[in-house]
Amino acid sequence: MQHSAPNFQDILDEKSGKTWPSGPERTTFSPKCPGNSPLLHTSVMVKEVIDALSLHNAEVVLDATAGEGGHSEAILKAEKDVCLVTLDADLRSVEITRERLEKFDGRAQVFESNFGDIEKVFNKNGIEKIDRALFDLGWNAGQLESGKGLSFLRDEPLNMSYGKKPASGFTASEIVNSWDEKTLADVFYGYGEERYSRRIAKAIVDYREVRPIETTTQLVDIIRGAVPAVYRNGRIHCATRTFQALRIAVNDELGVIGRGLASAWKYLSCGGRIAVITFHSIEDRAVKRIFAALVKDDDGVLVVKKPLVPSREEVLINPRARSAKLRIIEKVCNK
Ligand SMILES: C[S@@+](CC[C@H](N)C(=O)[O-])C[C@H]1O[C@@H](n2cnc3c(N)ncnc32)[C@H](O)[C@@H]1O
Repeated sequence: MQHSAPNFQDILDEKSGKTWPSGPERTTFSPKCPGNSPLLHTSVMVKEVIDALSLHNAEVVLDATAGEGGHSEAILKAEKDVCLVTLDADLRSVEITRERLEKFDGRAQVFESNFGDIEKVFNKNGIEKIDRALFDLGWNAGQLESGKGLSFLRDEPLNMSYGKKPASGFTASEIVNSWDEKTLADVFYGYGEERYSRRIAKAIVDYREVRPIETTTQLVDIIRGAVPAVYRNGRIHCATRTFQALRIAVNDELGVIGRGLASAWKYLSCGGRIAVITFHSIEDRAVKRIFAALVKDDDGVLVVKKPLVPSREEVLINPRARSAKLRIIEKVCNK
């Protein structure tokens, strides 16, 4: 089947950075989770996602971000004829999801892959079309405790890559130890909207002249020393925005959203839908722009004009949901 993909990268202003060089990998075993790990992630806006996907008539659904398999499981439960293809860059998430979905008797395939590489996974596994897709962006709660250096509340190596290799080609430690001061400040401001980006960048450069920055604790201490007391003791942890910016840079998050959505769109059947959950304004703006371009070209219609947000009840139970936004687009094939 011939597909031609729109190039969403052109639509995004941000540079995509380097791509992950290795191909998609599929683990061949289904281990029991070590220590009988409990699920740690609470899936966000599950009912809204299931409603938005409107699963009747859907044969194949792509969950591009398996996480701990919560949405995947809800999709399989909601429609008994649906087959699910799901992937995650993070091996632990793949293993947990695989085990969680075992009970669906072969209706789910779980791949270890970056969603920037959807086409490689599909080509390798003979997947020719999808009818619905979900992207639930960012990290899952289990990853904050899995030694990746994603949490500023833990003392861990400063890595931040979701997958084995960072999509950008750089770990967070490599970035803070080698990028110049201006670039660091631009990253903290551009990807983190960090108002003290310049001070933090300068403090990092001063610190690394003495010793390399290798752990989350070192970075948090540097940030704490660089920002004013009122910010240091504010409502939001003073490292939040710098960590967000580094995570986006390490995982080339804006680049892979463009590539992932372009690939999903290319394989999406007419009348099919893509739902995207974002957790910060930078990625939400990127998704909004991509959807707007499809609507402008008469290739898609927005299912909801404004993004859906979680209910107050959900936010009370799961505070992480407070920043979630759900956008949905449907493919039209008039041309
Ligand atoms: C918010 S969690 C998904 C949670 C999931 N929907 C659930 O209900 O359990 C986001 C997941 O996306 C994965 N992820 C982030 N960026 C990715 C990418 N570019 N390719 C593949 N997986 C990615 C992360 O590893 C994480 O497990």
